[in-house]
Amino acid sequence: MTEVSRLNADDVTTNIASQGISTREAGTSTMRTQRHGGQVRTVRPDPELLAFARQMRDDFARLQMEHEFAVDEVLTKVSILQREFMHLHQYNPIEHVTSRVKSLESILQKVAKRGIDWNPQAIRANLTDIAGVRITCSFIADTHRILKTLTSQTDVKVIEVKDYIANPKPNGYKSLHAIIEIPVFLSTGPVPVTVEVQIRTIAMDFWASLEHKIYYKYDGAVPDRLVADLSDAADAAEQLDRRMEQLHTEVRGAGSSAEAADTSDELEEELLLRLWQQSRQNT
Ligand code: GTP
Ligand code: MG
Repeated sequence: MTEVSRLNADDVTTNIASQGISTREAGTSTMRTQRHGGQVRTVRPDPELLAFARQMRDDFARLQMEHEFAVDEVLTKVSILQREFMHLHQYNPIEHVTSRVKSLESILQKVAKRGIDWNPQAIRANLTDIAGVRITCSFIADTHRILKTLTSQTDVKVIEVKDYIANPKPNGYKSLHAIIEIPVFLSTGPVPVTVEVQIRTIAMDFWASLEHKIYYKYDGAVPDRLVADLSDAADAAEQLDRRMEQLHTEVRGAGSSAEAADTSDELEEELLLRLWQQSRQNT
């Protein structure tokens, strides 16, 4: 076997990481040319290696698809909670929800960085943030309420909860993190899939996205002055969160949602009475 006729593992990584490659592309992109005297010959890659690359491509496509379904399931759960909460309390605790499934390239980078075994089973077991859902709430109390309601659902298995609101990271990062496992029902039966859920307030989210940009701009080596400024900003964000929550509680008052419910009950009663009178006239 000549040195150019074998595709090495790095090539497989690169080809698969480029995503969306078809079988034909997987085949042709792994070919090599070899010069013999004045002639250029195409050398086909090892068929076993090619089969391995194709198998990996299919396995990873499945892995990503299952995580996309799991994200859909969690988004549905969150939407139900939000709408029911509105119905019960006439108030929306969730400002917005975002989600993502890690790209194949980013999965492979993390696998390589952590030295995780290169197969879908090991990746499933060790990478718990392939699927991510971020819920941004209005107030701190809402973050805890949403976490509690979501994680107490019977089909949700809680793998881990990290409370970075009670225990912020040294840089000032605050958020609630939960790694949950939910079943995704495929034609072959249920498959448990893990999803990382991050829940935080608007102020915490604003801070985290700015910190993220700064961190990447300086490639992790953030100058001391900025680290101190970020820490101050995190304190200011916390103060803002607390004051806004105080104001909100003051304005709504403890009985305000009950009052609102009473008013709508009265309206319903009036309507019911009218309908009842009409039905009696018609008979
Ligand atoms: P990762 O290897 O990043 O997944 O860390 P981990 O497995 O130790 O989990 P952790 O719960 O600490 O962080 C998970 C995710 O939370 C990260 O991928 C980020 O999205 C977010 N996060 C954690 N720490 C910070 C931070 O200091 N700043 C920002 N902006 N985001 C953070
Ligand atoms: Mg993580």
